[in-house]
Amino acid sequence: MPKIRIEGGHPLSGIIPISGAKNSVVALIPAAILCDETVTISNVPEITDVDDLENILIHLNAQIKRTKERVEINASNIINKEITETLSKKLRASYYFMGAMLGKFNKVDMYFPGGCSIGARPINLHLKGFELLGAKITEEGSHFIIEAEKLKGNKIYLDFPSVGATINIMLAAVKAKGKTVIENAAAEPEIVNVATFLNNMGAKIKGAGTNTITISGVRYLHSCFHEVIPDRIEAGTYLIMGALIGENLKIDNIIPNHLEALIAKLKETGVEMEIGLDNIVIKETNKYKATDIKTLVYPGFPTDLQQIMATFLTQCHGKSIIEETIYENRFQSLLELQKMGANVKIRKDNRKATINGKTKLHGTDVNSTDLRGGASLLVAGLIASGTTTIDNISYILRGYDNIVEKLQKVGAKIEII
Ligand code: UD1
Repeated sequence: MPKIRIEGGHPLSGIIPISGAKNSVVALIPAAILCDETVTISNVPEITDVDDLENILIHLNAQIKRTKERVEINASNIINKEITETLSKKLRASYYFMGAMLGKFNKVDMYFPGGCSIGARPINLHLKGFELLGAKITEEGSHFIIEAEKLKGNKIYLDFPSVGATINIMLAAVKAKGKTVIENAAAEPEIVNVATFLNNMGAKIKGAGTNTITISGVRYLHSCFHEVIPDRIEAGTYLIMGALIGENLKIDNIIPNHLEALIAKLKETGVEMEIGLDNIVIKETNKYKATDIKTLVYPGFPTDLQQIMATFLTQCHGKSIIEETIYENRFQSLLELQKMGANVKIRKDNRKATINGKTKLHGTDVNSTDLRGGASLLVAGLIASGTTTIDNISYILRGYDNIVEKLQKVGAKIEII
């Protein structure tokens, strides 16, 4: 099993180009099957989640052409067959085939999705949405058959603004008869990107990016060209690295507006940065003060940056409190951070953690517990004294495009062994 080895303490300078957003592309690829013509998606990141989705498309007999940063998909000959348990469980986002297959064939046969174990991650809201559109759900263990004689638009209120449920319901409703209104919808930028893709194909979706999304069903979706938005979580990860060990590090090809919560928090601690139209230049100033963060749905502080921010907070002077409100199991990586010298206390209910800083971090052998947890350890390794070796790096490669190469180019001593 490959590992990542980092020799800490080498400053980062130069330009880091940010790739297309993981959480957007993993919905765009399944969404492409709703179209009977060829669609082209550009700015596609090289991450293993994309490979896993392509394998599902191949299994369904879709035609795919992948060149660097671009994928062309033609799903005119796809077959409505079971998506096997192995394929379904490879990643979380396989669940978007539920909405997409239902929208295309009125039937989907697949299994509960996989993904990082950061909490229970039920899909009850997705299923509730499908039912309200007229589908019947047969569930046996982790096997699901969801089918409808005809999908019909409806009003769907989400008890929680779930990213996955919002996108999945959009996918199922796009060709349903009549009008669907999703109330208390999630408003993440990735949802806007998916709605724009569908609209580029001829769908009629309004309100994406707000808490009420209206979808008027259409019969046919046509070919289009679409670009994946920059990955705000990847950008945030490199921004945090820049604040810790950057020497005028430029995080390029980003939408700074998508990072407002992180930028506000970093500024509160004393981080200095120059915010351009599509880039941020950041440098380490080494005199940060502690702050508290609370994860919330967009535009609140993203849960996907919570663990990486925790590494940053170990370098701030004073006591910081992290409150995780989205997932119940997202502090596992803090225990690994402790091995590197962090002063961390996790409350029994796993919802709050306290970090006392500033502490020196030292390199050691650590284990990537999940995608963002792995990234938090990688950030720690860059600033730690000595050598850090990270195990289970497949989690990291799921979501970060060429992370080792990108960091090598700006001066990090990092390698896959
Ligand atoms: C997506 C992202 C993930 C991110 C998360 C929150 C993808 C592939 N993944 O995950 O990186 O951390 O948004 O920004 O885009 N919930 C239910 N029932 C449901 C659905 C969700 O109770 O049917 C709960 C979840 O357990 C969790 C919360 O709602 O506590 C948020 O989940 P959701 O927004 O759906 O996240 P994911 O789609 O899993």
